[in-house]
Formats: sequence, C-alpha cells, structure tokens
Amino acid sequence: MGTSVINIENKNLVIIGAQWGDEGKGKIVDAFAQNASGVVRFHGGNNAGHTLYRGEKKIVLHLIPSGILHGNVKCFIGNGVVVDPLALNKEIEFLEDNLIEIKGKLNISSGCPILLPTHILLDKAKESKKSNNIGTTVRGIGPCYEDKVSRRATLISDAYDDKNFLDKLNLQLDYHEFLLKNLYGHKDINRNEIQEKTLFYTKKILNLVSSSHDFFEKNGRGNLIFEGAQGALLDIDHGTYPFVTSSNCLPNYASIGSGCSPKLINECLGVFKAYTTRVGKGPFPTEINDINSKHMLEKGKEFGATTGRTRRCGWLDLVALKKVVELAGIDRLCITKIDVLTGLDELFICTGYKINDSVIKNFPDDINTLNKVQPIYKKFSGWKININNIRSYNNLPKEVINYIDFISKFLDIPINLISNGPKIDDLLIV
Ligand code: GDP
Ligand code: IMO
Ligand code: MG
Repeated sequence: MGTSVINIENKNLVIIGAQWGDEGKGKIVDAFAQNASGVVRFHGGNNAGHTLYRGEKKIVLHLIPSGILHGNVKCFIGNGVVVDPLALNKEIEFLEDNLIEIKGKLNISSGCPILLPTHILLDKAKESKKSNNIGTTVRGIGPCYEDKVSRRATLISDAYDDKNFLDKLNLQLDYHEFLLKNLYGHKDINRNEIQEKTLFYTKKILNLVSSSHDFFEKNGRGNLIFEGAQGALLDIDHGTYPFVTSSNCLPNYASIGSGCSPKLINECLGVFKAYTTRVGKGPFPTEINDINSKHMLEKGKEFGATTGRTRRCGWLDLVALKKVVELAGIDRLCITKIDVLTGLDELFICTGYKINDSVIKNFPDDINTLNKVQPIYKKFSGWKININNIRSYNNLPKEVINYIDFISKFLDIPINLISNGPKIDDLLIV
C-alpha cells in the first residue's frame, strides 16, 4: 500500500479535526491505523460520520472507530462517547454483512451514557423551534449529554441487572415525558416499547464491554490512535458557542473520555481541509456563495455523511486555524481535499479579519464579535492539472506547493501529510 510508510513510531497519537468537522479525519485515522495497535473514540456519538473506502466501496462509520477495517487493530469506544444502542447494533450488523470482523476487536466502556429515543425526540422538538434552532444532526446528542451532566443518565453498566436498568430508565423517561409534553406539546411516549428495545439492544452489546484499565494495560504501550470527532471549533467550551456540539472535541479530552493517563498521549495531529466547510448554523467568516463555493460543493461532494445536508463552503481561514493550532497544541498538520481546488483560476486564504476599520489577527472569543468580522484575503494562483495520482511532493504543481508552504509558514507548523483523494492511498507524506 502506498501509505505504508506512515509510522507512528511507538507513539500514541491523537488525531483531531481542526475546523468545524468533516475534515477527512476518518480517512486519515484509517491510513494511520495500518501501523497502529488500536484506535479509540473518546467523545461525541453518532452525530459523527467518518468516511472510509475499500476499493470503490464506501463505508461510513458513526460510532465505531475508524481502525475497524484492519484485521489486527483493537478498537475502543471510551466513556466520553454517548451510545445509541440501536445505532451501534445497526453499525455492527452493517460491518458484519460486509465481512468485517467485529468480535475480539471492538471493545466498549461500561461507562458510556445510553442515548434513548426520547433524546432524539427532545433534540427534534428543540430544533423545530426557530428561536433556538442550531442545526444539530438531530441524533439526540445534546439532550443525552445534558442527562449525563445532570447525573440522570442510564449507563451501559446499568444493563448488568434488568431491574436496575428499567428502574433508572423509568426515572429518566418521567423527566423526558414531562419536558416533551409541557415544553413542546408532544403526545404520550410509548414507554414500554422504549424500555424493551433499549434493554434488548444494550444487552446485545454487553459482551463487548471491557474496562479502560484492561484495554490500556494491554494496548497502551504505543501505536494507539485517539480518534477525534467533530472539530475543534465545535468544542462545547472553546468553539463558536452556542453553535457547537455538546462534547469537548479538543485533544485534552482524549484521556478523560477514554480513561487513560494524559501522559499516555504523546502527540497531536490536526486535520484540516484545504478550504472550509460547516454544517448547521453559526458564524463562518469566510463563507462564500458563488461559483467557487459551487465548485467546492460539487467537486468535494460536500454533503453530510450523517444527515446528507449540504455543507456550507468557503475559503481557508488561517485566523481560525491558528487559534486551533495554539489551543489544541497541535504538533503537525494534515491537509485534505487539496485536489478539490484543482480547476479554480484563483484561490484565497484568509490571513486576518477587519472589524470596522481595525485589523485583528486573532480569532475572537465571543461570537458577537465574530459575527461582525470581514475576512482579509491573500490571493493565490490556481492550477489545472489533475493531482489525484501524484504521490511525491516534488511532483506537485508549483502553485500547490506555494499554497501549502504559505499555510505551513503562516502557522509555523509542519504539514506532514497531504491528502489528494478520498481513498486510503491518496496521500503524500512530506
Ligand atoms: P470526517 O468526518 O472528518 O471523517 O470527514 P467526512 O467523512 O464526514 O467527510 C470527508 C469527505 O471527504 C468524505 O466524503 C471523504 O471520502 C472525502 N475525502 C477525504 N479526504 C479527501 C481528499 O483528500 N480528497 C477528496 N476529494 N475527498 C476526500
Ligand atoms: P464529524 O465527526 C460536522 C454539528 C452539527 C451542528 C452542531 C451540533 O463527522 O466531523 P449535534 O448533533 O452535535 O448536537 O449538532 O454540530 N456537527 C457536525 N458537523 N461534522 C460532524 O462530525 C458533526 N457533528 C456535529 O451540524 O451544527
Ligand atoms: Mg463527518
């Protein structure tokens, strides 16, 4: 395989999205996983959609780590992930139908909060109100994390005892039913069906439970990958609040959300697109609506891997990326989808913002200020030749090299990987 030189040299590496999600993290994790011993998910839920390819076959993973296609890679879903048992069972079935071995490879923490059908109803109900709609994936993620923080959640471990599980679920459903009826005018919920199905599907995954202690003791000596979901700008604490997801997407959370020492994590790789996309609402200073965004949308197939929604497109924003590089402590970068820019006459990169008449170089902390900024752009020449099959940096057109070199110099950080297509081999190592 062309990417076999990717080596994590016995280090444990966290890979995060450095923009607003969908940077191509799944593909990069898959490429690294060829030489990894394990891949760990540490936050989020099935709001994530990570796309991998085997030949022409497209595989979209939502909860299962992107190392699962490799025979000898152990995968772990950590306690920081919220798990919809129905969705997880479906994903397992899909992989097994495609002859991908799960048994003995997939492990899950007993501490994951269970995401219920009523979380999805609550998410939908909230989203249907225009006043506080943020364009979620409507997978129930926010309401499930609310329950976790309120200490109301039912955990996978509760399913070791049916009565205990159903009692906890009942209390949780009392609360959900109250909210659904009184806040959103919803009719009765089908409590028996929800309880039966949730217990059934949770018990089906109990055989995958492994303690994080055992997992990291067996697999934590190096060559582990911690797979981020969403992107740093969707982080609940440091993203463009309230237009964010409900978990921490920053690499610091990898140890908390998986149950290992922070000292186990040696390095952070940030993945970013050669341009920018965002799904759902929220500020996006470099968003464009012209022939260039149409090109990005069509050539980049910018439709959500989870919801199928059209992604908003715009130019690369180095003010935003600089904030993420610094905040996340990113050691090196991977640029993806550079091939998508082929064919554009000129390209633009945002290097600063203007607010009224002053220039600002740093990403504002509050979205009220962010909503007012105007991007300052530097113009670059485009290229016309197809770069999909190029495997050596020096064979790239000089315009591509200029574009990537500028980003690396601006951020003062190496760009070690260049992804020029959706397949695992479409990767250049610099
Ligand atoms: P993730 O959520 O970060 O894993 O990204 P998604 O899978 O949601 O979206 C990335 C999309 O871009 C998927 O359709 C990938 O197959 C595709 N992709 C990834 N890297 C590249 C690349 O370098 N070039 C092109 N053309 N497509 C890519
Ligand atoms: P991956 O891992 C892109 C966005 C939603 C919405 C906001 C909140 O594939 O990169 P949520 O359902 O989490 O409450 O929605 O976050 N969002 C994502 N955008 N990629 C994702 O995941 C996302 N997961 C959530 O569109 O704006
Ligand atoms: Mg995605």
